[in-house]
Amino acid sequence: MTDKPTQTKESMGVDPYERNWMIVSIFILVLFFGLVTAAGFALGIQVPDAEVRVDPQTLEDSGPFANPGLREIAPGEYEAYVISRQFLFQPRELVVPVGSTVTIYVTAPDVQHGFKIQNTNINMQIVPGQVSKLTYTFEEIGEFPYICTEYCGLGHAAMFGTVQVVEELEEEEEGGSDE
Ligand code: CUA
Repeated sequence: MTDKPTQTKESMGVDPYERNWMIVSIFILVLFFGLVTAAGFALGIQVPDAEVRVDPQTLEDSGPFANPGLREIAPGEYEAYVISRQFLFQPRELVVPVGSTVTIYVTAPDVQHGFKIQNTNINMQIVPGQVSKLTYTFEEIGEFPYICTEYCGLGHAAMFGTVQVVEELEEEEEGGSDE
């Protein structure tokens, strides 16, 4: 065997195996960079965003969390303000027509919670003092339960609500719900 490594200028004395691993490592870095870029810009996958800070003591006195719920900001576009607290979500139900794009803002007045909507990629950590925000387009009719995913106390398992995705919104009726 005569494959004793010889140092030449071109190889800078790098062992061929080491060089191959370096090439693989650089390829993986470039691949991941490309995938993350594609996920963020082409597929619109977002990381939960700490949107703004709020004072957990006063968030219900004024501002959007004083009146949590859905608002239509444009045809087919909604904002939902949700408070997660020991041990419920306010509101417990969000009703939107199919095809709606909903930007969900969630915060907590007490302790840390989670907010996950089943069968979607909405899954956020909710920290008092901070508003978490994610956007989702509901393309299918059905019920999408939302649950608390971080242990927040004895009633943790009771924290849930539902996004109802309906064919069409019924005319709003004064005072009270049917069913
Ligand atoms: Cu709220 Cu667990």
